[in-house]
Amino acid sequence: MDPRVENRLGLKELADKVVSAEQAAALINDGDVVGMSGFTRAGDAKVVPMALVERAKNENFKIDIYTGASLGPEVDKYLAEAGVIRKRGPFIADSGIRNQINSGNVYYVDAHLSHNAELVRQGIIGPIKYLILEATAITEDGLIVPTTSVGNSPVFAEYAENIIVELNISHPESLIGIHDIYVPGPQGQREPIPMTDAVKRIGEIGIKVDPAKIKAIVISEEPDAPSLIVPPDEETQTMANLLLDFFRSEIEAGRLTNKLMPLQSGVGSVANAVLDGFADSEFEDLIVASEVLQDAVFNLIDAGKVSFAAATSITISEQLQKKVYGNLEKYADKLVLRPQEISNHPEVIRRLGLISINTALELDIYGNVNSTHVSGTKMMNGIGGSGDFARNARLGIFVTKSYAKGGAISSIVPMVSHVDHTEHDVDVIVTEQGIADLRGLAPKERAVLIIENCVHPDFKEQMWDYYNRAVEVTGNAQTPHILEEALSWHVNLAKNKTMKKEISKA
Ligand code: COA
Repeated sequence: MDPRVENRLGLKELADKVVSAEQAAALINDGDVVGMSGFTRAGDAKVVPMALVERAKNENFKIDIYTGASLGPEVDKYLAEAGVIRKRGPFIADSGIRNQINSGNVYYVDAHLSHNAELVRQGIIGPIKYLILEATAITEDGLIVPTTSVGNSPVFAEYAENIIVELNISHPESLIGIHDIYVPGPQGQREPIPMTDAVKRIGEIGIKVDPAKIKAIVISEEPDAPSLIVPPDEETQTMANLLLDFFRSEIEAGRLTNKLMPLQSGVGSVANAVLDGFADSEFEDLIVASEVLQDAVFNLIDAGKVSFAAATSITISEQLQKKVYGNLEKYADKLVLRPQEISNHPEVIRRLGLISINTALELDIYGNVNSTHVSGTKMMNGIGGSGDFARNARLGIFVTKSYAKGGAISSIVPMVSHVDHTEHDVDVIVTEQGIADLRGLAPKERAVLIIENCVHPDFKEQMWDYYNRAVEVTGNAQTPHILEEALSWHVNLAKNKTMKKEISKA
C-alpha cells in the first residue's frame, strides 16, 4: 500500500475496502438518495462522482443528491449535465446545475442550511442509501476526519445505510485537529449546545461511524475547485467604508466595542470584498463565526485583524489555497470547522450575538430581500445560510450594489419578485450609494431612508414617483403599494431589457 495512504488509514481492518472509483460508483443504484460531503466547493468527493459521469455514458440512471451546500464541477456541472441528478438540495452555485434547474431537468429544494440535519433525522430526506464522504484520514479508533468542510456529513454518516470514503491524500495531514464535530441529540431530548464562545471547542476531531457501514474506500488526489470570486473594486470599498463608519457610530452609541461581535460574512464576491475592507481599519481582535471562510478572512488573519475564525468550510481562490494549505500550521490554532447545523444554529447565533453580512440579489423599498430568484423565476444560487444568520443575528446586514447588468437593473425595486428575508429580518442595508439603518423604523420611514440613501441616481426619480403615488392612492396606508405596478419594473426588464422607464411629468 502507498505509504501516504497507510499513514492516513488508521483503522487497519479497512485496508481491504480500498477499491477503484469505478468499483465504488457501481454500488450506487438508480433511484438512490445519496448524501455527499462538501460545502461551497470545499471538501466534496470528486473521483467517485466522475466515475458516475463515465457510467452515465452507457447507462440511464438518476439519483437524488443532498449535500452541505454547493459542490465543485464534478457533481454540479458534469454529473448534472450527464442527466444523472433527479433532485438536488440544499444549495448550488455552479452555472451547469443552475441551467439544468432553470430548464426543468432537475428538481431543486432550496433550504435553510441549518434545517437539513433535522429533515434527515425525521426521514424526510432519505432513506440515504449511500454517503460519499471525502476524508483526510480515518483514525485508529474509526473517526473519519473530514477535509476542508464538514457540512452535513456527521448527520449523513449517522443515517446513511452505507458509506463510500474518498480518502484524499492531496489535502494536508495538518487538517487533522481543526474539526470540531458536535452532534446534537434528538429534538425533545436535546441538551443546550454548550457553545458559549465561538473559540470554544465542544466536539471531536472526526465523525464517528460504524465501520461496518464503510463499503468502499477510494483514494483521491484531486484538489478542491478554487473559488471564483472577483476581487474588490472601488464600489465594494465604498460599501466597506460605509459599514465601518456604521460600526464606529455603534461604538459611540455604546452598543459595540472595537472588537465588534463575531462576524458572519456570506458567499460571493460582494460580501468577501466588503469584509476585505476591514484590513485597513482600526478594528482588531475580530472573531469570525461564519459558515464559509473566503479569501478575505485569511487576509485579515494575516493582517492581524482576525484572531479566530470558525465556520463549516474553507472556500478560497487558487492563490490562497497554495498559501493556506501550504502553510496550514500557521493558521491551525486560529481555525475550526464545525457541522453546518452548529455553525448556522439559531441557538448559537443568538447566544454569540453575531453580526451577519450577506448579499442581496435585490431588495425593496420596505427592506424585503430576494437572495435567490432572478425576476422571481430563475434560480441564482439559493438562500444558503443567509436566512439562518439574518433572522437570528444581533445585526442582520444586507449589502448589494445598487444596480446590476451595467445599469439596466436597479437592485432596489418597489416590491421584490421573490422573498427570502422579510423586512422583519433586515436591520441594515448598504449599497455603494449609502447605508440605511432600518432598526426601529416603520415601513414608510424605512422606504424614505432606503430611497434617499441606497437607490442609484439613475432610478431615484422613478422610485420617488412610484412611492409618492403609492402613498397617495392608498390614502397613506401602512405599507403603500400600487399592486398593479409593484412588479412593473421586472415586467419592463423582461420586455425592454431595462428597468428604466419614462416618467410622465403630467
Ligand atoms: N437582478 C438580476 N441579476 C442580478 C441582480 C439583480 N437584481 N443582482 C445581481 N445580479 C447578478 C449579477 O449580474 C451577477 O451575474 P453574472 O454572474 O452573470 O455576472 C450575479 O447576479 C452575481 O452577482 P454579483 O454582483 O457578482 O454578486 P455576488 O457574487 O456577491 O453574489 C448573490 C450575490 C446574491 C448571488 C450571492 O451572495 C448568493 O448566492 N447569496 C445567497 C446565499 C447566501 O447569501 N448565503 C450566505 C450565507 S454564507
